[in-house]
Amino acid sequence: MDPNTSGLVQKLAEAGQPHLLQFWKELSPEDQQELFQELQGIDFLEINGFFKSAMETSSSTRHEKMDGRMEPVPRDVLGSVTRDRESLKDWEVKGLDCISQSKVAVLLLAGGQGTRLGVSYPKGMYDVGLPSHKTLFQIQAERILKLQQLAEQKTTVKCCVPWYIMTSGRTMESTKDFFSQHKYFGLDKNNVIFFQQGMLPAMDYNGKIILESKGKLSMAPDGNGGLYRALGNQGILDDMHRRGVEFIHVYCVDNILVKVADPTFIGFCVQKGADCGAKVVEKTNPTEAVGVVCKVDGRYQVVEYSEITLATAEKRSSDGRLMFNAGNVANHFFSFSFLRDVVQKYEPQLQHHVAQKKIPFVDGQGHLIKPEKPNGIKMEKFVFDIFQFAKTFVVYEVLREDEFSPLKNADTQDGKDTPTTARHALMSLHHRWVLNAGGHFIDENGRRVPAIPSLKDGTDLPIKCEISPLVSYAGEGLEELVKGREFQATLMIDERGVHELVKNGV
Ligand code: UTP
Repeated sequence: MDPNTSGLVQKLAEAGQPHLLQFWKELSPEDQQELFQELQGIDFLEINGFFKSAMETSSSTRHEKMDGRMEPVPRDVLGSVTRDRESLKDWEVKGLDCISQSKVAVLLLAGGQGTRLGVSYPKGMYDVGLPSHKTLFQIQAERILKLQQLAEQKTTVKCCVPWYIMTSGRTMESTKDFFSQHKYFGLDKNNVIFFQQGMLPAMDYNGKIILESKGKLSMAPDGNGGLYRALGNQGILDDMHRRGVEFIHVYCVDNILVKVADPTFIGFCVQKGADCGAKVVEKTNPTEAVGVVCKVDGRYQVVEYSEITLATAEKRSSDGRLMFNAGNVANHFFSFSFLRDVVQKYEPQLQHHVAQKKIPFVDGQGHLIKPEKPNGIKMEKFVFDIFQFAKTFVVYEVLREDEFSPLKNADTQDGKDTPTTARHALMSLHHRWVLNAGGHFIDENGRRVPAIPSLKDGTDLPIKCEISPLVSYAGEGLEELVKGREFQATLMIDERGVHELVKNGV
């Protein structure tokens, strides 16, 4: 292990990265060994190429707004839970049918670092403080279990929804351990498949790789679009093929309301003959920093808020809605053949996006510096970058309050996308399920609690109510448990029954 004789010194010099060995002599033999191995495994010329093209694309798009080239999603490719009510049942039946034939898989993007939430473990292990204290992983696992059950009830044939979980070098071990400790939350462990996305080094603005310590490169996952490379090189595409998977639902770990393998969404996409579909929520505020799905030069893509002018963001259609209102929530449908084409043909065409970050580094003297302003970039691909390759692309609009509440930030007063907002969103949805199924809530004096809480008297906090996914996937099957009954919060409905925690002194 000599960097000179092994050709490593020369390789680094040729790639303009010789500084990575500047502290070599100060490292312990173990640290030398680790650094040596890490450097040997990196294709520096490829990374330099990524840097060059990412910086070029980023500087050209920074100055050029997209406005003139954009068109909204046409109505004929759009399905909507509010505007197409008459079709929902058909789509659901179609989706459940595909699920019951074990043609549907779910794919979870869980390779992020969750820096804004600020915990040291994977985000899926987070407990947002529900009465049950279930983690995001558990909630999602139980939704899969329930869906398998619902599909089986239709056909009486046993089916399975394989769950592919993408992690990164930083989250793989802890994620796997967590699942194993919790016995895969009741799922068959053979149908929970972990795989690892790639990592890329952080670089300064001159393309030099940043050292986070004397013997360690600053590495980060290559974005949720790293999915496509990983699907190929981790053998996941082959696994899907072996299992006969035809349709894949891809989603993010942090959305507490996610309808995993949503049969209605899947049925809609399948009936439309789509190879690629995006679930969206309506963007109602022009300045909300959310990407919108639209056509650019005739091809579908997500346009970020920063890429358009305020005038375009504010444009309205004749129905009064924002013209560009298809808010992307990173929740997608892919046919297997489309995914295979992306992995095998198109992936190399995807560009990395540049994220400017404050990246801790060691300076020339070996001191660790924590910069106060951005000092370099991380390069990431995005999961939605492949829309442009779809032949039949569809969009499915759902209600934000029913389906989207992401966990991004730590709790602060009035914070957005926090554990508190996620918990409230779930409990408020479950409260509505109970009301829709004919149940009622009463306060401690026995008075009925109004269905719509009043902001005026400070009672806008949601009623504490949680329904296990093992009991209901999307509000179905609750009448027999709640119809005509009155409950006092905290109400919990799980596979063991209906519990009022306050009454029972819990
Ligand atoms: P975000 O972009 O919100 O990132 O990811 P994050 O890692 O959760 O949080 P921050 O930005 O560090 O605070 C959206 C989804 O994409 C996944 C995340 O796990 C999350 O489900 N993701 C992100 C990956 O799977 N890989 C990545 O490299 C980045």
